[in-house]
Amino acid sequence: MSNVSETIQKMGVVPVVVLNDAKDAAPLAKALCEGGLPCAEVTFRTDAAEESIRVMTTEYPEMFVGAGTVLTIEQVDRAVAAGAKFIVSPGFDPEIVDYCLSKEIPVYPGCITPSEVAQAVKRGLKVVKFFPAEQFGGVATIKALAAPYVGVKFMPTGGVSAKNLESYLSCDKIVACGGSWMVKGDLVKEGKFDEIKALVEEAVSLVAEIRNK
Ligand code: 3PG
Repeated sequence: MSNVSETIQKMGVVPVVVLNDAKDAAPLAKALCEGGLPCAEVTFRTDAAEESIRVMTTEYPEMFVGAGTVLTIEQVDRAVAAGAKFIVSPGFDPEIVDYCLSKEIPVYPGCITPSEVAQAVKRGLKVVKFFPAEQFGGVATIKALAAPYVGVKFMPTGGVSAKNLESYLSCDKIVACGGSWMVKGDLVKEGKFDEIKALVEEAVSLVAEIRNK
């Protein structure tokens, strides 16, 4: 696995972040760092994504930040220029994947069918996103997909939370889970960064507990 995939695996959980205002990026990064999970997938679902990545990575250099919901090559360029260390897409877009590979940018496309995993394998990818995880059968589907594609591991997101994290992280085909449950939109909007920090701390202890079993 690449260094970036190894870092993601070490984290165990990647907070999926939707920021409407880049002014929230610094206090959020602080909460994530203090909570013990200096990591985020900042989604390009809002116009604030690029600036938020820039703020997080410059003001908190220990933050390991990737860009999520990347749907165009232009977004890849903007994300990387802002400091993103990896690119995540909800689906498998060959144009985006090939562009990232040509620039040696770590990329995690969403793959939920054998045909999509096959395209990833053909390009040498070792870790792919599995989204939306719960709706597409969760761990059972991942295990079935991983059986023929022995070298591939998955990063499920979509419907993962503290409640079902153990079932996912107990599977050796899963490197880490992404999720928004620690960084809910209303908590960010209301400036409840202490609550976010507490949810992050809970997730960090949960990962340690699951992995030490
Ligand atoms: C993603 O983009 O990975 C998902 O929207 C995260 O899903 P969740 O909100 O159910 O955690």
